[in-house]
Amino acid sequence: MTEEQEAIRQETRKVLKRFSKQRGNLVPILQQVQAQLGYIPLEAMVEVAEFLKIPEMDVYSVVTFYNQFRLNPPGKHSVRVCLGTACHMKGGYIVLDAWKRRLGIDQGETTPDHEFDLDTVACVGCCTMAPVTVVDNEAEGKTSPTRVDGILLSYQLEKDKEGKETK
Ligand code: FES
Repeated sequence: MTEEQEAIRQETRKVLKRFSKQRGNLVPILQQVQAQLGYIPLEAMVEVAEFLKIPEMDVYSVVTFYNQFRLNPPGKHSVRVCLGTACHMKGGYIVLDAWKRRLGIDQGETTPDHEFDLDTVACVGCCTMAPVTVVDNEAEGKTSPTRVDGILLSYQLEKDKEGKETK
């Protein structure tokens, strides 16, 4: 077992101390694990299954059933494409495809450099700006594929600037 896997197991055990061994606690436990680690790693699922004395497959099924749970570690920046009704009507799926292509990942995944994670959300309450993408809690309106390029460019420039300042 790697150091990282051992650290995940230890963090998960800390969360488990707050719960009794009842199967009904599965979802609240997973929510707390995610709050602690930012996602639900496989090692955490194994710990939870052992704790509740249930098959690992049952834990995995719950994690993959609810889209509140992430199977991948969060990126430095979160990208959430709104697919609520208004955004859907104004091309939300085209925007999602643009993000997927530009980042080279699918929804629910994180870029290999851990800079961005991509997912979808339901209405975020600013339908007049549809289609909307929320990047790091900032709502970006009228997110055409060209706008996606612009947003990514601004993050790249910011990263380049940070790199120069730390040299
Ligand atoms: S549907 Fe996207 S903000 Fe309302």
